[in-house]
Amino acid sequence: MADVRPETMERITTKELADKFIEEQVAAVREQVGEDGKVLLALSGGVDSSVVAALLIKAIGDRLTCVHVNHGLLRKGEPEQVVKVFREELGANLIYVDAVDRFLDQLAGVDEPETKRKIIGKVFIDVFAEEASKLEGIGFLGQGTIYPDILESDGVKAHHNVGGLPEDLQFELVEPVKLLYKDEVRVVGTALGLPDSMVYRQPFPGPGLGVRCTGAITRDRLEALREADAIVREEIGKMEQTPWQYFAVIPDIQSTGIKDGKRYMGWPVIVRAINTVDAVTAESVELPWDMLCRIRDRIIETVPGVNRVMWDISNKPTSTIEWE
Ligand code: XMP
Repeated sequence: MADVRPETMERITTKELADKFIEEQVAAVREQVGEDGKVLLALSGGVDSSVVAALLIKAIGDRLTCVHVNHGLLRKGEPEQVVKVFREELGANLIYVDAVDRFLDQLAGVDEPETKRKIIGKVFIDVFAEEASKLEGIGFLGQGTIYPDILESDGVKAHHNVGGLPEDLQFELVEPVKLLYKDEVRVVGTALGLPDSMVYRQPFPGPGLGVRCTGAITRDRLEALREADAIVREEIGKMEQTPWQYFAVIPDIQSTGIKDGKRYMGWPVIVRAINTVDAVTAESVELPWDMLCRIRDRIIETVPGVNRVMWDISNKPTSTIEWE
């Protein structure tokens, strides 16, 4: 498949168009990998890799091997959802790698944001390559490349996403959605039977919670972030019109709190909700006060180590969407 979307290509907006696309791609994949070709795919649980996985399962069944690396920086419930949807519901041949200790050990004490990103990227490649080397007869690598990745090969994803793959893995690429825009990938995902919670997931950085647990990541602070983030997403997710992106951040500072008449030091949780068109500029979303209070109460009551809740009202520019 060429890397240029033909001008005549119809925008996929309906189930019928998605079904037609799926049928064509199933045939194209079968043609590309042949009768017994085997494909390997790094399945993060993000929209793009999930849609590619579901499409490849349809095309070649268990000749697809998916590898889901849990780096410990995923949101609450995500690794479980990947296993449930792909292994249990779609019958995928899925290797789940619990690499949490390996990532967190490598990240221990590292506070420089770009170094953190690099470590996460490198450990990811090492873990993936190790899994690949245990498998036999793999000739192809599935990838969730989408059209904006090709258009903006210099964009966010290209330079700091996790999942950049080792060049010495000599596989031929299988990229069935590379001419699609994000909205089309979602329509195709729904047509393939993926749940809305996966297809309409909000954007999430490859290095995951690693860029929202600022400074050197510790396990207790990371766990506090994961719990607080789940609360923030649940509450803001109830809005009629949900913001484009909304999440929690936990900085590596402490401030004084008071509990049972005693002073103690705790972390703040920062609530961030933004609207944007293209993530190049962004505006902070005005959240209802009662919602903020509910978020505050739930976090303070249930998340150990947190004694303060803040709301980040900064726009981009001057602030980036993420904190690191
Ligand atoms: P910033 O923080 O630069 O984020 O305003 C813009 C958008 O990109 C996402 N983002 C990332 N996505 N890998 C990704 O795949 C990353 O390392 C990364 N860093 C930021 C961010 O969530 C926002 O949607």
